[in-house]
Amino acid sequence: MSNWSAFVSYFAKTRILQVNPNQPDDENIQIAAHIIRDGGLVAFPTETVYGLGANALDGDALDRIYQAKERPASDPIIAHIAHIDQLHQLAIHVPLHLVTPLAERFWPGALTLVLHRAPHVPPNIATGLNTIAVRMPAHPIARALIIASGVPIAAPSANTFTRPSATTAQHVLEDLQDRVDVVLDGGETTIGLESTVLDLTNPQTPMILRPGGVLLDELRAILPNVQLAPRYLKTDEVTSSPGQMLKHYSPRAKIKLFAGPLYSMLLAMKETAQLHINKGEKVGLLIANEDCHHLASCGIIQPLGKRDDLKTISHNLFAGMRYLDSQKVDVILTRDFGRSGLGAALWDRLLRAAEGRVIDVQ
Ligand code: TXA
Ligand code: MG
Repeated sequence: MSNWSAFVSYFAKTRILQVNPNQPDDENIQIAAHIIRDGGLVAFPTETVYGLGANALDGDALDRIYQAKERPASDPIIAHIAHIDQLHQLAIHVPLHLVTPLAERFWPGALTLVLHRAPHVPPNIATGLNTIAVRMPAHPIARALIIASGVPIAAPSANTFTRPSATTAQHVLEDLQDRVDVVLDGGETTIGLESTVLDLTNPQTPMILRPGGVLLDELRAILPNVQLAPRYLKTDEVTSSPGQMLKHYSPRAKIKLFAGPLYSMLLAMKETAQLHINKGEKVGLLIANEDCHHLASCGIIQPLGKRDDLKTISHNLFAGMRYLDSQKVDVILTRDFGRSGLGAALWDRLLRAAEGRVIDVQ
């Protein structure tokens, strides 16, 4: 792409193309694939969240992702593939004894593997690190787009930096209108939280850098020594440890995260809501369905799902944060929904959204 067409593309209006998520229509996929090959940006659904895609082998296109997201160049990007052969275009020294069983079990799906980067892959995909994160998504639109483009597609979540990830095309437009050439609108994503990021660069000690859609216990069945090792760093500590910043996924309102025994937690939330209301502030509540009657008249309530249905709570989390932001609340009170199984990923996102503000009522 010439500098001029890159300039025009950056400021051009975003085209929104409706695509059937089960049977993506070829015409719209071809339009989007052409834009990818030409160095442009396409937002598309995956089964986790929407991605902001560009040709993973084109360094200028990758720069456009960072600009559009207002993302600091210290946070590396995942490359998405449709076939296992593409893994070997991107990574070297692949530990096949680990990757083969993992790929057979979890790909296509919500698992991202961090491996050693092949030297011809532009270093800005991984902010100069000699590694690369690779995922094979399962969503038919993502797969069709990668196949039609003929290149691996680099895609971070399609939100501006530190905003909650986008789980609908509407969320993508809220953040990226006119900064992306095309949005493929395939409706809501199913999982709603991002993929599990598993670092295999040291095959002796596989590390989960970010819990997600593929669970710790599921990985343990294949990697008995896998460690859950997400870290929560302050903004000025992040340069050496990509993607581990504490402030992440935040709505505009301040979040307060409550933990502890259920009824003590709900009582503390009620008292805190009252304190904010007394100060004239608007309160939002991100809670389970069964919590609602305990917190009636404590603010704008956004129920996320039944208490023990972590799948539905996860699916609705980011949309719930965005909804309360649209209601212009000053503070959002939310709670621990449990930390095992999918709860590990949910807790990770809540903790980051709250920038570590946990009120533990033990
Ligand atoms: O589900 C997902 O993973 C979505 C969809 C679009 O695939 N993508 C996504 O991308 O969540 P992003 O950029 O928002 O998050 C990618 C995570 C970050 O925590 C980043 O630091 C980590 O993956 N990551 C990417 N490349 C890495 C690398 N080379 N080494 C370590 N971590 C890496
Ligand atoms: Mg993200």
